[in-house]
Amino acid sequence: MNWIYNVPIKFHEYNLKELKNRLKEFDSNTLLIASKRVINTFDLDVSSFQVLDESLSNPDIHLVEKVLDKIFRPDLIVAIGGGSSIDLAKAISALYEYNDEDVLELIKSKKYLENESNIPIVAVPTTAGTGSECTKWATIWDMDNLKKYSIDADYLYPFESWIVPELTSTMGHDLTLSTGLDALAHAMESYWSNASNSYTRVLARDSIRIISKYLPLVLEDLDNLEYRQKMLMGSFFAGLAFSNTRTTAAHSISYPLTMLYGINHGFAVSITLFEILKRNWDYLKEKELFLESFGVDSLDEVFDWFKLVSGEKINLKNFGVKKEEIPNIVKLATTGGRMDNNPIVFNEEEIQDILNCCYK
Ligand SMILES: [Fe+2]
Repeated sequence: MNWIYNVPIKFHEYNLKELKNRLKEFDSNTLLIASKRVINTFDLDVSSFQVLDESLSNPDIHLVEKVLDKIFRPDLIVAIGGGSSIDLAKAISALYEYNDEDVLELIKSKKYLENESNIPIVAVPTTAGTGSECTKWATIWDMDNLKKYSIDADYLYPFESWIVPELTSTMGHDLTLSTGLDALAHAMESYWSNASNSYTRVLARDSIRIISKYLPLVLEDLDNLEYRQKMLMGSFFAGLAFSNTRTTAAHSISYPLTMLYGINHGFAVSITLFEILKRNWDYLKEKELFLESFGVDSLDEVFDWFKLVSGEKINLKNFGVKKEEIPNIVKLATTGGRMDNNPIVFNEEEIQDILNCCYK
C-alpha cells in the first residue's frame, strides 16, 4: 500500500516552570490566547503580550469576526487552552490577511488556502483530548445556519506544541472524562477509518492502550500528575494517528448533537462511538491487536470498559434529547470527509437506528 505520513510539528514536554521560561522569549508582537482562569490559576506573566483572554467554547463565525476586528497583526500566536483556543488561533492565522472580507465566505470558498502570510502558532493544550495541537485543521461553527466548517491548510500545523501535564491537572471529573473519551474516539475512529494504514494503526493502538489504562485511574485521582502526563501521551498518539486519517461516523453524528443541544464535544462523540464499533467490527483489521490494546479478549469486555468508565450515563436521553427529535439529528449527521471515511457509510435509516440504540 502506498502511503505518506506527515506531522511537521516540534513537540516539547515541559513542566510549568519551563513553560513560564519559554514564554519569556516572546514579546508584544506575540498574541497570547488564554482564558483569565488559565492565566490566574497558573500565575502566567502575560504583561508583555497582546492578550486575548475570553473564555471560549466552540468558536463560531461571529467570534472570529469580532476577534479579527479587535486585534493587531501578531508575528506569532501562542494558544494556551482547550481545542477551542487552539482552533481560534488557527482561524486567526488563516484569515487575518483578509480581515476586511466576509469570514463565512472566506471559509466556504477556501480562499485562505492562497494565504502566503499566515501567522505561526505555538499550541499548548490544557486538556488531554482534542488533538488540535497535532493537526492542521480547526472547527469553526456557524450556529445561525446550524453548520460546522473546517479550516484546513498545511500551514496550520502548529510549528511547536508544548505538552505541560500541570496545565491539565485542574480539569474536573467531567471535563477529564469527556476530553479523554474524545482522544479515545480519535484513536478508535482513526483505527477503523478507510484512510488508516498499518503505521497509523500502531499509533492508534498505543493511544488506546494508554487511555484505556489511565483514564479510569485519573478519574479516581484527578491530582495525580503521572496519570495526567499519561493521558496527554495517549492524546498525543491519538493526535498523531488521526492527523493523518481523520475521524469517521461517530464524529460526523456528533456535530448536530453539539449544535442542537450544546452537548460537550467529547460526550457527543462517545454517545455513538461504541455502537459504531459494534457495527464496524467485521471491517476492523487485526482485531486481536485491537482487543489487546484494551487489555481484553472480547468485544463485550470493551463495552464493559466503557460502562465502567462512563457510569452508563452517556446516552442521548441523559443529555436532554427527546426521542421524537432524533430525525432532526439524522438530517444533519452526515458530514463529508467523516461519514465517507467510515468503513460503512451509514444511510439516514441506519443513523436513525444507531441513535435509537443510544437512547436508553
Ligand atoms: Fe474530537
